[in-house]
Amino acid sequence: MRKFPDEFLWGAATSAYQVEGGNVLSDWWRIERMPGAPLERSGDAVDHYHRYAEDMGLLAGAGLSAYRFSIEWARLEPDEGEFSRAELLHYRRMIDTALTLGLTPVVTLHHFTLPAWLAAQGGWRAPGSLDAFARYVAFVSEILVDVEWVCTINEPNIAALMAGAAEHAMGGEFDGTLPTPDLAFGEILAVAHARARTEVKARTQAKVGWTVAQQALVPVPGAEEKFAELSWAWEDFYLQTARGDDFIGTQSYTSQTVSEKGIVPHPAHPDNTLTGWAYRPDALGIAVRRAHEVTQGTPILVTENGIAIADDTRRIAYTRTALTHLADAIADGIDVRGYLHWSALDNYEWGHWGPTFGLIAVDRTTFERQPKPSLAWLGDVARTAGASLEVA
Ligand code: BGC
Repeated sequence: MRKFPDEFLWGAATSAYQVEGGNVLSDWWRIERMPGAPLERSGDAVDHYHRYAEDMGLLAGAGLSAYRFSIEWARLEPDEGEFSRAELLHYRRMIDTALTLGLTPVVTLHHFTLPAWLAAQGGWRAPGSLDAFARYVAFVSEILVDVEWVCTINEPNIAALMAGAAEHAMGGEFDGTLPTPDLAFGEILAVAHARARTEVKARTQAKVGWTVAQQALVPVPGAEEKFAELSWAWEDFYLQTARGDDFIGTQSYTSQTVSEKGIVPHPAHPDNTLTGWAYRPDALGIAVRRAHEVTQGTPILVTENGIAIADDTRRIAYTRTALTHLADAIADGIDVRGYLHWSALDNYEWGHWGPTFGLIAVDRTTFERQPKPSLAWLGDVARTAGASLEVA
């Protein structure tokens, strides 16, 4: 029987910009409106800003024990140096609600979006960005005193990739592959992470870590050198930075092959998900093992794993297989502290509403929530510490 540790966290995750709605002071609100950008707009998103208690109630009611959400920096610091205590206390109410419902809050401080005023100065590359981030984190720490898990920066490697993406596309090189994350940008984020960790640790008892998008890269025979080069730029630099941290957040969706030429784009296949990614539930096991190896044993929290799919039975099948691979890794001695499914809700997938990752569907006119069978299914897995995975 596959068992997970008793104190294992079972939950779901969201990020503020993707669910709250009305984040008009964030850089992404501007990005959505760039002339010619083929992006759908976030608008009211799924109004989680007002409906977080209902959403957390659904997760707790299903049997989950944790909820990962993020704080929108632009709400807390709408203009440079001007902080909003009312917004700070909004997020404190979210933490209180989670705790009251028996959900362990996992709080992310930066999930892709920056205040528009900082973006206008050059974003993370602006000379004052690190000081600004440390100041924001110090301000937030006041409400984190009893929070056990804090993620400083979500997917710094994808942030570093996005930084180079525009130039890559403009250079006419776009061939279906993604640009390699910009290491110089990643190094800025590594400093930001260290500074945030210092600020949080000075004021709380929280476990502090960052989260890394892991591609579960696998070399074809003969491509070992390319694999080593790309692994470093894509994720190992970020995993290595987490050596000695309280935890590393593993985020896994799919796996990709590396040939001598580079990362091989996912070929078209009927099983591909709504984001065009190959259906690879085994990726989670590969990712967790890599994180364990490169961090040299930093405890792992799976902070994201999921699938964009319309057919919820496929979500259940994917997650069941992913969790069996996770259980195998734990049985092999890897220290994994929890599993947070992406995502709690069908949400705004960075420019698109089509790819649905949620355990809960939302009617975007009435904002009515409709839990999917996968929510109750994951709740059963949580309640039985994985034993129900044996039941087909
Ligand atoms: C991000 C999420 C995103 C998800 C699915 C992760 O890269 O943290 O914001 O929605 O993957 O693409």
